[in-house]
Amino acid sequence: MEKDVIAVILAAGKGTRMKTNKSKVVHKIYGKELITRVVETARKSGIKDIVTVVGHKREEVQAVLGDSVQYAYQDELLGTGHTVMQAIPYLKGRKGKVIILSGDVPITRTETIKKLITKSVKDREYATILTAIYDNPTGYGRVVRDIGGNVSAIVEEKDASKKEKEIREINAGIYCFDIEELILALEELTPNNAQGEYYLTDVINIMNNKGLKTGAIIVEDNTEILGVNDRAQLEMLTRILRVRINQEHMKKGVTIEDINNTYIYDDVEIGVDTVIHPNTTIKSGVVIGENCEIGPNAYIREGTKLANNVKVGSFVELKKAIIGEGTKVPHLSYMGDCEIGSKTNIGCGTITCNYDGFKKSKTIIGNNAFVGSNVNFVAPVKVGDNVLIAAGSTITEDVPSDSLSIARERQINKEGWNKKD
Ligand code: UD1
Ligand code: CA
Repeated sequence: MEKDVIAVILAAGKGTRMKTNKSKVVHKIYGKELITRVVETARKSGIKDIVTVVGHKREEVQAVLGDSVQYAYQDELLGTGHTVMQAIPYLKGRKGKVIILSGDVPITRTETIKKLITKSVKDREYATILTAIYDNPTGYGRVVRDIGGNVSAIVEEKDASKKEKEIREINAGIYCFDIEELILALEELTPNNAQGEYYLTDVINIMNNKGLKTGAIIVEDNTEILGVNDRAQLEMLTRILRVRINQEHMKKGVTIEDINNTYIYDDVEIGVDTVIHPNTTIKSGVVIGENCEIGPNAYIREGTKLANNVKVGSFVELKKAIIGEGTKVPHLSYMGDCEIGSKTNIGCGTITCNYDGFKKSKTIIGNNAFVGSNVNFVAPVKVGDNVLIAAGSTITEDVPSDSLSIARERQINKEGWNKKD
């Protein structure tokens, strides 16, 4: 990987079609802000220095990203070329490559960014652009190639001739530039076009006129370059991301019964031969072992770690639950802030009462325990190995190993009490 690559992320736009009171790029897509995903893509591509150009609602973007990136400011929205100009102070004096990304294009693959950088270095290109072939290219900048197939310019929809509008290769808005030549080309931009804006895309034509080599990579998967402009696109991209993540787990040996109704967030680990039934949600960072059975309708939240052969059944919510090998939580339970040993059975309706209104406390349950139905564990509480807990018990005190614990009112039958004569 080329050293010294810097990224500039364009994120000053208004996002009018989103109909929002917030900055568009702080909206979450599958649990993470759009802008956070773009920054992560840059980072995972090996880029250390990242400049985010903010404008509209800048404080919200800065609150999300903090000091993980540097900032440039665009006060007037005068076009994408003008946006990149604001980052020049960070580019001046640097050599090498700059990658341009948009804050509202959140599901580009890391490999694609890496390919763009590699090609620009290998083929000695001053600009390498990412393009796509669309059946309906309306609205996008069109990629003009000369007879030899070399990229010579990008023409915006509003400036395109009838002939140019027929071009189906579009500009994705993701570029790799030589830093020094980009700065020189930006100085030559003018707003003499249909929209009266400084177009970043004009840089391609300027470089070509100077005889500087430019090129392109056609993206293999068109979904990677989709942007979020409204709530419908937000939903569509969420769906694409979800299916993509599910497919990756399937490739690694996980059975997913219904790819469209399984919600596995980023950075989840699942072992081979585990089966995920429909309507299961698994949040980021969860670790699930091999040969487990999860769902339907399970909700597995942050901090949870399941060993091999664990069963988590329907309407079970787990949060920060560390569960040992072969243990079963088959139905209707909330187990939060708990550690459960191996080969333990948690009866239907069991609940950890982990929150007293002020703080969270832990429930610890040993190996080979049998917890009857509808048991409440009032945390903090500790239950040993080989324990039997009677159904309906509310456990407020520790239970030693090998004991039977019953913690409920005795039943009274008042004979004849309700007799109607
Ligand atoms: C741009 C490209 C077009 C390409 C398309 C891909 C230009 C001139 N055109 O078009 O060729 O097909 O992207 O989606 O670049 N932004 C700012 N400040 C501005 C203007 C834009 O921060 O003054 C940001 C936006 O918030 C957005 C990104 O830049 O994240 C792209 O802007 P957008 O208006 O979507 O570009 P398009 O005109 O659609
Ligand atoms: Ca756009």
